[in-house]
Amino acid sequence: MPYQTVKGTYDTLPDQMIRVNMLSDLFRQFLNLYGYSEIKTPVFEYTGVFQKENDTSDMVTKEMYTFSPNGKDSLTLRPEGTAGVIRSFVENKMYGNSELPVKLGYIEEMFRHERPQKGRQRQFTQMGIECIGDKDPLIDAEVIALGYFYIKTLGLESVKVLLNTLGDQESRIRYKQTLIDYFRPYRDQLCTDCQNRLEKNPLRILDCKIDHENEIVKNAPKMQLSESSAQYFEKVKHYLDLLGIPYEIDERLVRGLDYYTDTVFEVVSTNEASGSQATIFGGGRYDDLVKEMGGPQISGIGFAIGVERLLILCEAEEIFEINKSIDCYVINLNEDPDYALQIAEMLRNNSFSCEMDYYRRSLKAQFKSSERKNARFVIIIGEDEVKEDAVTLKDTLTKAQETVKKDELTDRLDQLMEDYYE
Ligand code: HAM
Repeated sequence: MPYQTVKGTYDTLPDQMIRVNMLSDLFRQFLNLYGYSEIKTPVFEYTGVFQKENDTSDMVTKEMYTFSPNGKDSLTLRPEGTAGVIRSFVENKMYGNSELPVKLGYIEEMFRHERPQKGRQRQFTQMGIECIGDKDPLIDAEVIALGYFYIKTLGLESVKVLLNTLGDQESRIRYKQTLIDYFRPYRDQLCTDCQNRLEKNPLRILDCKIDHENEIVKNAPKMQLSESSAQYFEKVKHYLDLLGIPYEIDERLVRGLDYYTDTVFEVVSTNEASGSQATIFGGGRYDDLVKEMGGPQISGIGFAIGVERLLILCEAEEIFEINKSIDCYVINLNEDPDYALQIAEMLRNNSFSCEMDYYRRSLKAQFKSSERKNARFVIIIGEDEVKEDAVTLKDTLTKAQETVKKDELTDRLDQLMEDYYE
């Protein structure tokens, strides 16, 4: 058994973890700004939470990690966040207790048995939202706004919003039949996946990655929206215009999961560093999922951002400025570390980040460490300092050095920091 990560999984090492935390901290701020509460659902659920009857998506039919620990229950590692959140919404009867819509956000690990490549892993992280309980174009626009302005606040430039509507049930049933009738004579000229999709979910043929350039697919008839769906979509576009969110209409945007209705959208990277996995996030409205999972007939909308893909783009656009530093480094020149240990802990108790030497090294070696750790203050403790209940304090910015009584140290540090920022 090799001691290495499983194919398609990876370690997030400390430097990368700083970036991941920056992305998730800002995402949490955005959840707060738009009135979303964070939720955590289990990593594994009963398979039926994800797998619905007649599901045709690759994710459900080919990519799920399904297992049965007791030979009876079929369990699945969550491949996406929406189904678990809706299961929780229904199970906890959130539709009855709370004011609608219920706005939920999550940052969670997902698992899909896909072919790994840059931006596509078997374990990955999604930051997502679900707004459940009402259907209104205002909500669609607000959901897209949260994602779009999050990306913009990060400072990313090379992204664009793709928008489409899959229509309401009435328009879609009609369109499905139109597509089946259109594609049937060309069945043999479609890829194997699309041949299987033809009768069950012909819409997916439109955004098939293999058949994308196929003239038959390009010339497929367009959806004729019902009047109410067309009006709904017009309003979504109107609100997006009002909010200053640029978008491109992409009539072939269908999205990979089966539950979508009406508005669907993706934010894609135009930076070549993203390679073939350019979709940074995607989402859409789902009218029937809550009902399918045992709840009332209420609609929801949401999206999920792929953290790993976002990181690739952020790195390509060099948006991270990481300046790792600590407030204090305690240099101890005595055999006995007791006093230095007490000083370090006193500083931490007063909210100054602090590290100390553990190895009783030379003054030079300890200074080197304080530089490597980017310490703002160096606190030097020799024999005299212990005798006088004091420390020698060096400000690495001004290079000034002074003796400070132990009891006065934290006040002095506060003062030096304040003076500097004034
Ligand atoms: P999705 O399009 O399947 O939608 O995934 C959303 C995002 O997750 C993708 O745009 C991508 O950034 C990231 N992602 C997906 N698969 C992988 C992978 N194998 N490796 C790395 N990143 C990946 C959903 O999952 C829906 N639940 C989104 C949603 C929420 N719709 C409504 N509400």
